[in-house]
Amino acid sequence: CGIVAYVGHREAAPLILKGLKRLEYRGYDSAGIALMNQGLNIYKKKGKVKDLEEILDGEALQSNIGIGHTRWATHGEPNDRNAHPHFSNSGSLAIIHNGIIENYSAIKQNLVKKGYVFQSDTDTEVFVNFIQDIQQNTGCLLEEAVRLAMKEVVGAYAVVIMDAGTPNQLIAARKGSPLVIGVGDGEYFFASDATPIIEYTNEVIYLNDFELAVVRDGELTVKNVDNILQSPYIQTVELELEAIEKGGYDHFMLKEIFEQPRSVADCLRGRVNADSGHLVLGGLRDYTEKLSKAKRIVIVACGTSWHAGLVAEYIFEELARINVEVEYASEFRYRNPIIKEGDFVIAISQSGETADTLAAIELAKSKGATILGVCNVVGASIPRASHAGAYTHAGPEIGVASTKAFTAQVTVLTQMAIAVASKKGTLHEDTFRRLLFELERIPSKIEKVLKSDEKIREIAEKFKDARNFIYLGRGYNFPVALEGALKLKEISYIHAEGYPAAEMKHGPIALIDAEMPVVFIATKDSSYEKVVSNIQEVKARKGIVIAIVTEGDKLIPTMADYTIEIPAMHEALIPLVSVIPLQLLSYYIAVMRGCNVDQPRNLAKSVTVE
Ligand code: G6P
Repeated sequence: CGIVAYVGHREAAPLILKGLKRLEYRGYDSAGIALMNQGLNIYKKKGKVKDLEEILDGEALQSNIGIGHTRWATHGEPNDRNAHPHFSNSGSLAIIHNGIIENYSAIKQNLVKKGYVFQSDTDTEVFVNFIQDIQQNTGCLLEEAVRLAMKEVVGAYAVVIMDAGTPNQLIAARKGSPLVIGVGDGEYFFASDATPIIEYTNEVIYLNDFELAVVRDGELTVKNVDNILQSPYIQTVELELEAIEKGGYDHFMLKEIFEQPRSVADCLRGRVNADSGHLVLGGLRDYTEKLSKAKRIVIVACGTSWHAGLVAEYIFEELARINVEVEYASEFRYRNPIIKEGDFVIAISQSGETADTLAAIELAKSKGATILGVCNVVGASIPRASHAGAYTHAGPEIGVASTKAFTAQVTVLTQMAIAVASKKGTLHEDTFRRLLFELERIPSKIEKVLKSDEKIREIAEKFKDARNFIYLGRGYNFPVALEGALKLKEISYIHAEGYPAAEMKHGPIALIDAEMPVVFIATKDSSYEKVVSNIQEVKARKGIVIAIVTEGDKLIPTMADYTIEIPAMHEALIPLVSVIPLQLLSYYIAVMRGCNVDQPRNLAKSVTVE
């Protein structure tokens, strides 16, 4: 979910609505806003922020304080009733909430016994009434009631609360869900991430878990749940407005796909220099040697980041000869994993906020592992919870389906593996130099593949009505097959499966008929011949083959129905380039099917609930 709140001298409503649009990628089931205008008023609507704007038309919205929310449903279906903000029973408190209150049903039962009535099915409405109840029972200040409530509720939250009785006050609290406070000149902004704030101020405070922030009469105080005053650390964020706008592209996703030559270059900048044989990831400087002695690396991640982890497994094992296990964070955290002191855990996350990944690293940390974060959002929870790490520097990724974050993650992980292998001595100096040389050329190779845009669009046209897709690859291209299938299903809602090409004959081959498009990532690498055989197996069953091949390949074009070429490169680097045509293919298919590419149904960019 996305949170935006403001208190200061500006008009709150337009500022909050604009901020919600910037955050809409975090959730877009419903949206709402609360303002102080002759009392506390709440307006909310199922659907997008623009649907909310429609009901606001003609309303008197003047207010210098307000809270707004865009929702990704957890408790209760997405409808007007369940949209945030929620009132307390007294009508004097309004709350917006990101996260899940796990013990809400026990709290709710108690409140119902006391006569509380609930308008929605949400855990959030329980939270705000719980706060009201504490305040009424103890006669304390609202901030004290919030603090006491924080001690009782279990789960994750970032909340902002407004009180009709104190019209120049906002109270915010956080545990497990991100909350950033923008510090302006006599004005304060609250948001789930910095994107809605940066056009007003670049001074921000990241609220920590179990902290409570109170802005009253233009003064900010931060305390923790034990009532101890904190001195918040004000940071300067270097995010440019342009980076979070579409820049002439139809969709953020397309913009982000086309940004990859630059984002990969940004990710290499200052880290790699093939001429001088230099490879240093600043944040990992002290860890490269330690990693080179590791017996085992465990990678934890979710979604696309998990696919980047799979690519890393192949590269680390091949180049550095270190045993790597790649785990879904959500599985890892709940199955009593074996972690020993001396183990390294690499957590990969674009947002740096994914709840399962964060919990997985906390668990590993408690068992003595060293945590290295590979994240895109600077200052997010995962990098802060890690011992060290490397940022991917891809810039803000707004499209819900991850593209440039994936290639940046793979770029960082590849650099890590090469650096560790070189330190360990498992990489011949010539190969080391060659890999650096080739890494530097990846941006221009991506650029070249992006020029096949039109051809890929034509292929998309042919398959836009397909009901199923299979993606096959081997070795380094197996994770790419998974990622290609995920991209397609996420944004076009076509069912797609990614499989190791050879494993096809143990199941998916049964699905192949003259209707079934099969995408092969069939580049010239060590499994090329094997993949050629797999293509023949598909053709023998009349499947339709779309093949990603290496430039100059003469054989596969004679078998495949469609081919898309990518330049030749060292096989460990192929995923960085072979994924590009698959991103474009899914993008065009989704556009042609009329799907909302940037905000596909039911998904959210930053999953801060488990
Ligand atoms: C969500 C997003 C995916 C993303 C995954 C992990 O499901 O829709 O695109 O890959 O979360 O997110 P993270 O921020 O941890 O990489």
